[in-house]
Amino acid sequence: MHLRRLKLQNFKNHCFVEFDLSAQVNCLTGLNGIGKTNVLDAIYYLGFTKSYFNSQDQFSLQHGASWFTIDAEIESQSGTNQLKLIYQSGQKKQLLIDQNEVERFADYIGTLPLIMILPGDILLIQETADARRKLLDSVIASCNKKYLTDLMAYNKYLDQRNKLLRDFANGTPYDESLLNIYNQRLHEYGHLVFETRKLVLQTIQPNFHNHYKDISGGKELAEIVYVSDLNEMDMQAWLTQQAFTDKQAQRTTKGIHKDDLLFLLDGFAIKKYGSQGQQKSFVIALKLALYDYLQAQKGVQPLLLLDDIFEKLDAQRLNLLIQRISKQEFGQIFITDTHQQRIADAFADLAHIEVKYFEIAAFKPTLDR
Ligand SMILES: Nc1ncnc2c1ncn2[C@@H]1O[C@H](COP(=O)(O)OP(=O)(O)OP(=O)(O)O)[C@@H](O)[C@H]1O
Ligand SMILES: [Mg+2]
Repeated sequence: MHLRRLKLQNFKNHCFVEFDLSAQVNCLTGLNGIGKTNVLDAIYYLGFTKSYFNSQDQFSLQHGASWFTIDAEIESQSGTNQLKLIYQSGQKKQLLIDQNEVERFADYIGTLPLIMILPGDILLIQETADARRKLLDSVIASCNKKYLTDLMAYNKYLDQRNKLLRDFANGTPYDESLLNIYNQRLHEYGHLVFETRKLVLQTIQPNFHNHYKDISGGKELAEIVYVSDLNEMDMQAWLTQQAFTDKQAQRTTKGIHKDDLLFLLDGFAIKKYGSQGQQKSFVIALKLALYDYLQAQKGVQPLLLLDDIFEKLDAQRLNLLIQRISKQEFGQIFITDTHQQRIADAFADLAHIEVKYFEIAAFKPTLDR
């Protein structure tokens, strides 16, 4: 599966830009701030119906514009499809496949599987658990529709239970039967999400070890440990017996919404003890392991979006990546860099790979918008 064409209108700093793409490697080059990462974000938008960077569509709207569109032509085993995402200020965004509107985005997620590797990924190690869960959830949701609906159901009941707990604190009479209904739902859906996360993390572990070893050249054992309240306790019993804790806190204090991933090197938290280079290798290895997982589950090669990879990787790590690209272990790839010559040099020996270069330049609008 790959994108054949991509067109952005009023998306972030791009008034109008169109790409006729290679099914293999696409290099986007240009000065700092010219909009290279924004193009990758537009592709991410098509995959996940939202920006990687902002949860609100409004932020992706070009300053002063009232709408933006992202158009793409996708080629896959099932043929060629036209994809169009339209956002108009103040209105619900629309996604059209061959001009037919997608009713539920949850049904669509996973149609364009992709993994994006960014310089900021290293922050994943320092950030709160939310960021690590978001990454895991986005990948699982891309290949497991039931997981996404279970997670959405869990979040819905979590909100309702939290609201009920706040209402109790504000004087609404205690309603044990309603609380028990929410407890039951959280237990059911939480358990499903927990089992899936556990299984996925077990599945990716061997590839993750190998990628870490390859990328870092180190001998340390890199591990991801799944931390969950559900590892420790029977959630249903806790929700019913310990409800007073939650009543006092006015929110649900335990559950899969608190899950985290612990990143370890030789048993020590990489967050506290890892060097910059080890941390960098760790997150890239994790993303590549997720890429492998997505590929195995979907039976197609996901898109790989590599932002600023030349700035952030040293020569050894980069060579390993280029070798894998050369062996066609990835499907369509997008790479951004400030120096076109640097990318051209890196791909000079790969005559069997079709590499297209796009120099992104400032666009001067000539038409009234
Ligand atoms: N909603 C928006 N409307 C207009 N411009 C925007 C909007 N959001 C971001 N920008 C502009 O996009 C530019 C940044 O684009 P981007 O991050 O894609 O650059 P880049 O080419 O990746 O740069 P670098 O090489 O530094 O990573 C900035 O000039 C920023 O002001
Ligand atoms: Mg950038």
